[in-house]
Amino acid sequence: MLLEVKDITAHYYKVPAVRSISITVEDNKIVTLIGSNGAGKTTILRTISGLKHPTTGEIRFKGQRIDKLPPHEINGLGIAMVPEGRRVFPQMTVLENLLVGAFLRKDKDGIQKDMQEVVFRHFPRLKERTNQAAGTLSGGEQQMLAMGRALMSAPELLLLDEPSLGLSPIMCGEIGKIIRDIHSDGKTVILVEQNARLALALAQHAYVIETGNITLSGPADELRNNDNVKKAYLGG
Ligand SMILES: Nc1ncnc2c1ncn2[C@@H]1O[C@H](COP(=O)(O)OP(=O)(O)OP(=O)(O)O)[C@@H](O)[C@H]1O
Ligand SMILES: [Mg+2]
Repeated sequence: MLLEVKDITAHYYKVPAVRSISITVEDNKIVTLIGSNGAGKTTILRTISGLKHPTTGEIRFKGQRIDKLPPHEINGLGIAMVPEGRRVFPQMTVLENLLVGAFLRKDKDGIQKDMQEVVFRHFPRLKERTNQAAGTLSGGEQQMLAMGRALMSAPELLLLDEPSLGLSPIMCGEIGKIIRDIHSDGKTVILVEQNARLALALAQHAYVIETGNITLSGPADELRNNDNVKKAYLGG
């Protein structure tokens, strides 16, 4: 098992945001978390990436406990997060944003290789725009940059928080295709989406999160055909 989230609870101040969450992610799978606004999806990703420490429970990555480590150490172990709303550095160029993603790496050759052979292969549009200020990119291009920046840390596990949010249907399709390509390259992905249709089409396994709890989980194909999921998340 690549990632094991065991029975975690996380609070903001005294208010629990997620309760007794257990998630397992096998190597080279796409696992999706779907759920409505405020369900706790982002909070779960933040506990995995170390931005928030769970109050109880444990998280293991390749067998190692990570739930008390700071974010940079977790990134160094091979987990990278693409945050909700992209959060690119608007005044910096595309190239500078990408290099931020490689901040912890010392292998200069590997950094250049990943930029050319991984990031620019998945995102040729970024290559055409290396010197453009990130703030002037379109929404879809900023999403690509945020994903490219995360890939620059050469992660094994990529956490994607709402990559399709605010994008046109065509751009959603394009991002979906790129997620599939990144997965084919051997990366493991946890995909958080409100676009459940897209998420269930991409993922092998899915969890439904409702008000801080997992209410349903199973193979994505099964959930796609589940009547409750259809009603609540797939528009009937
Ligand atoms: N910084 C914070 N301080 C206090 N409460 C927070 C904070 N961040 C999130 N919460 C609360 O925790 C709960 C879960 O929020 P979270 O952002 O994880 O949900 P989400 O499923 O990602 O929602 P969305 O789909 O809107 O992004 C919500 O009730 C939210 O109000
Ligand atoms: Mg969220």
